[in-house]
Amino acid sequence: MRVCVVGTGYVGLTTGVSLAFLGHQVTCIDLDQDKVDMLRGGKCPIYEPGMEELLAEAAPNLTFTTSYAEGVPGADVVFVAVQTPSAGDGSPDLRYLRSAAESVAQNLDHEFTVVVNKSTVPIGSGNWVDAILRDSFAQRDDRPENCEFSVASNPEFLREGNAIHDTLFPDRIVIGSDSPRALEVLNQLYRPLINQTFTPPVFQPRPDDTTAVPLVSTDLASAELIKYAANAFLALKISYVNEIGQLAGKVGADITEVARGMGLDQRIGSRFLEPGVGWGGSCFGKDTKALIATASEYNYDMPIVKAARDVNQRQREIAVERLQSELRILKGRKIGLLGVAFKPNTDDLRDSPALDIAGLLLARGARVKLHDPIAGERFRREYPELAPHLSDTLDGVFDDCDAVVLVTKWAQYIELDWGKFVGLMRTPIVLDGRNVLDAERMSRLGFKYLSMAG
Ligand code: UDX
Repeated sequence: MRVCVVGTGYVGLTTGVSLAFLGHQVTCIDLDQDKVDMLRGGKCPIYEPGMEELLAEAAPNLTFTTSYAEGVPGADVVFVAVQTPSAGDGSPDLRYLRSAAESVAQNLDHEFTVVVNKSTVPIGSGNWVDAILRDSFAQRDDRPENCEFSVASNPEFLREGNAIHDTLFPDRIVIGSDSPRALEVLNQLYRPLINQTFTPPVFQPRPDDTTAVPLVSTDLASAELIKYAANAFLALKISYVNEIGQLAGKVGADITEVARGMGLDQRIGSRFLEPGVGWGGSCFGKDTKALIATASEYNYDMPIVKAARDVNQRQREIAVERLQSELRILKGRKIGLLGVAFKPNTDDLRDSPALDIAGLLLARGARVKLHDPIAGERFRREYPELAPHLSDTLDGVFDDCDAVVLVTKWAQYIELDWGKFVGLMRTPIVLDGRNVLDAERMSRLGFKYLSMAG
């Protein structure tokens, strides 16, 4: 099939490259010439394991351009995967989506094209895009005869750092449209993925990956809500375990044991039950906020989702309070933060707990040194005001340090030769912000081990 993808961010690029790998003819459009040049040269503008290998494999079926006129005409499916940053009131800013939809409408010429919202957009946006498409199309002097289109939603569930795996071996595919013809086209498009009829060059299926992927084919509004409902559920699962973690600390229980005992109940499941400084990233914060904003338009409060957000914010403050209760005075103390990326295997800094924790510490007069194995360069670019607090070496963090906090679960930190650094510190305190270090071992090495649970 002929596919066009508008926007080569995380979601757009992964979608385009994966569909090209599955045998479709794909044109990716991005208005950023530098990005397009990079991608044409086989280089990936984001850090995502496996992406460049898949890009090379899919190259014969893949074109990159800045021009809508090169991508949209003749396409059976146009994916719109542009950024939807948070506006001031928590609702997503849809201006890029609007202009992308207008540009698509200016270039439609095929007998039937499905225009798919791949960005995470508020419930109802499908209808809104449909109206924009129809208006812009009607205004064209050169509008072709025999050209129809329908809008669909096809939410993405990929995790950064696992984008290729999650796209090639998804738990499910969700497609939603009020047009049966559009659903049929998407069903065809995803056949190779649903039937798993391919051999991946980079990632092999994991033992719990299914051999046939379930397809949820539904109406537009339901598909839009599935995405938000799923992300908010994962977010509140993390907040729940963090809330229980705080109680565990107070009653003298071990949250690791509690989470293990809970997770073995198959109705609960062990994934996303890891306590720590909480979630960050581009999705959970934004999506929970957007869900609350949508609900309030309908005069409905979302107390559970709101509470999940509050607990998450509270965890970041608790990290600082744990240090304060140990060191008493934070002013003038040197605190090392290990990890600035919001999670391991990505250089994404959006809503990263490290940023908030650093801000809270600096506000209390502490001296902060941050480190990250991958995200340092991006951190310097995006947060110039915090850049002087970044250290390229671990020695620079540990040297004369009063406490270090493990903020991001990078393997490098878990496997660190901690014994080598203990002697460098002024007071060897470690706060395990991801609940991943062995408390007894750390004590043996001479550290005072603190967990997030009080
Ligand atoms: C998430 C969803 O997983 C994905 O399905 C969605 O469509 C986009 O948002 P992503 O943001 O890339 O993906 O990261 P994810 O791996 O889900 O982690 C999110 C955050 O939660 C990270 O900050 C992580 O450290 C934290 N987390 C995760 C926990 O604190 N505890 C856990 O048990 C799991």
